[in-house]
Amino acid sequence: MDRYPDHGFNFAHRPVAERIKYIKYCAVRQTEGIFPGRVQMKNEWIRVAAPATTSNIGPGFDTFGLALMEPYDVIEGRKTESGLYISEISGPGSEIIPTDPERNSVCIAAAEVLRRSGEKFGIEFRIRKGIRPGSGIGSSGASAAGGAYLAHLMCGEKLSQTELVLCAAHAEDVTSGGFHADNVAPCIVGGFTVIRSYEPFEMISIRPPENLGLVVALPDIYVETKEARKVIPKEVPLKHLVFHAGNAACLVHGMCTGDLGLVGRSVQDLVSEPFRSHFVPHLKEAESAALSHGALASFLGGSGPCVMSFYDKNTHDGKIIAESMKDVFVDAGIGCKTWVTDCGVGCRRI
Ligand code: HSE
Repeated sequence: MDRYPDHGFNFAHRPVAERIKYIKYCAVRQTEGIFPGRVQMKNEWIRVAAPATTSNIGPGFDTFGLALMEPYDVIEGRKTESGLYISEISGPGSEIIPTDPERNSVCIAAAEVLRRSGEKFGIEFRIRKGIRPGSGIGSSGASAAGGAYLAHLMCGEKLSQTELVLCAAHAEDVTSGGFHADNVAPCIVGGFTVIRSYEPFEMISIRPPENLGLVVALPDIYVETKEARKVIPKEVPLKHLVFHAGNAACLVHGMCTGDLGLVGRSVQDLVSEPFRSHFVPHLKEAESAALSHGALASFLGGSGPCVMSFYDKNTHDGKIIAESMKDVFVDAGIGCKTWVTDCGVGCRRI
């Protein structure tokens, strides 16, 4: 097994000692002709991992995103003469994912990368979903980002990271009814990302604090992002704008300085979650349970239904928070999966 399954990651997200170890490791692998910098052989399969992400995170509707360590999709591709097609798709929820290349996020994003890179070859894809659709942890975003990243590797990495994010966001636009990059940006770049502006597009990435832990509760409810976007009001009151600006700025400051208390207090949302809570029965009870078991913040992940909780790994146990959220849904007769994870790295070759 590979000792560094996440190579290709954003280097800035690793401690110095690990970066040095990684550089030495790459040097050895390179002399073996294994990784990285090798030439792709004809018909060779390339495999990438694309992680789940959580978006909005309180005040950052369509602007904040965070990569998770688990779960992730695995996407494989090999060059063909022309055209994009999916020869295999598996994993939770894969039966409802369209395989028509014009409606599939992997293919739409990859086609955009080929177009921007000026390449004419085709790609055969094999997709193993680790993130079920309609979960709120960036399932379509991972497909889009993974498809874009894979095509980018096959084209000889001609695009910038920002262009790659835009190719993946184009797929989000086609499939989810809105041009938003808050899942695809952290999925490609890793860590915590902020979209400063969509026009012109500018994003930044921030390494999250080491002790920031995450708990995910995924109830057996399906929420379609397209539908969940329709309920968001088109205009917000000025006092909500003031509230969001203050919380968004402080959340970013907390992420940069490692002030988890400030991060937790700043996860506040008046513009998206209140209008979507009816999609997820018992959302508020699950959030309250997490908070009363030590979570720093608990919020609707993306468009839902997953409920995310932040906790401080130095002082709390994520498992207790997970159980408390699960109990709320199970007691109400709704099945629920929970897991404890960490902030993660972006798309990488595996
Ligand atoms: N920001 C997007 C939304 C994310 O809330 O609609 C969708 O996963």
